[in-house]
Amino acid sequence: MQRIPEPELMDEAEQAQAYAEADFDAANRLFVDRFRAAFGDGLKGRALDLGCGPADIVGRLARHYPALHFDAVDGAAAMLAWAERSLAHDGVAERVTLLRRHLPCDDLPVASYQVITSNSLLHHMRDAHGFWTMLAAYAEPGTRVMVMDLLRPASLTAANDLVAQYAADAPQVLRQDFYRSLLAAYRPQEIVLQLSRAGLAPLDVQVVSDRHWLVSGRLD
Ligand SMILES: C[S@@+](CC[C@H](N)C(=O)[O-])C[C@H]1O[C@@H](n2cnc3c(N)ncnc32)[C@H](O)[C@@H]1O
Repeated sequence: MQRIPEPELMDEAEQAQAYAEADFDAANRLFVDRFRAAFGDGLKGRALDLGCGPADIVGRLARHYPALHFDAVDGAAAMLAWAERSLAHDGVAERVTLLRRHLPCDDLPVASYQVITSNSLLHHMRDAHGFWTMLAAYAEPGTRVMVMDLLRPASLTAANDLVAQYAADAPQVLRQDFYRSLLAAYRPQEIVLQLSRAGLAPLDVQVVSDRHWLVSGRLD
């Protein structure tokens, strides 16, 4: 099935609210568990999260890694408002700087990061190569990288089946976003080519669920 792009930013109030209030516990837990398994405990320094949305994953990582400071970036003001609330609720707001930027960008507060993460952003972006080259530009030797996103199903029927399986009780706006996101998502072979083109071939690509791929590794 050919990829069908979807809009980049999630900046409509109803869309941001439905996303922020949805239950992404399984996927977000998968991300954090994989991160901890790959990179262990006790990380310190500065971390960058790209396309943070309501910052649930940033909040989970910030709670687990008290010596990391996060720059969490998103282009949608509506999402950043939810992120601000959720980080205050988690008690980690003082270690997270929320930044509104349209990605890719080259004006972040520091030149490089010890950790770079992103979940469920790449399929939104018009410029996939720009995403990876930005990630490479903000890495330094030793940077830990973890990027997860949806995996494009083989057919429209398979996409509909995933929506029925994982979002049956979700609001219509969320079901529609999930369906469109599945159609816009990349397949692992496409990610391998993108990484190679951006000079990031040493990173590992794995399929980690029936609907997610994961890129991870420590850069030289
Ligand atoms: C599906 S949400 C994922 C949010 C979060 N990472 C998570 O795992 O819950 C995608 C987010 O990426 C943001 N986004 C999409 N394209 C973007 C771009 N080009 N620049 C900045 N943010 C973007 C959207 O506004 C949205 O908040």
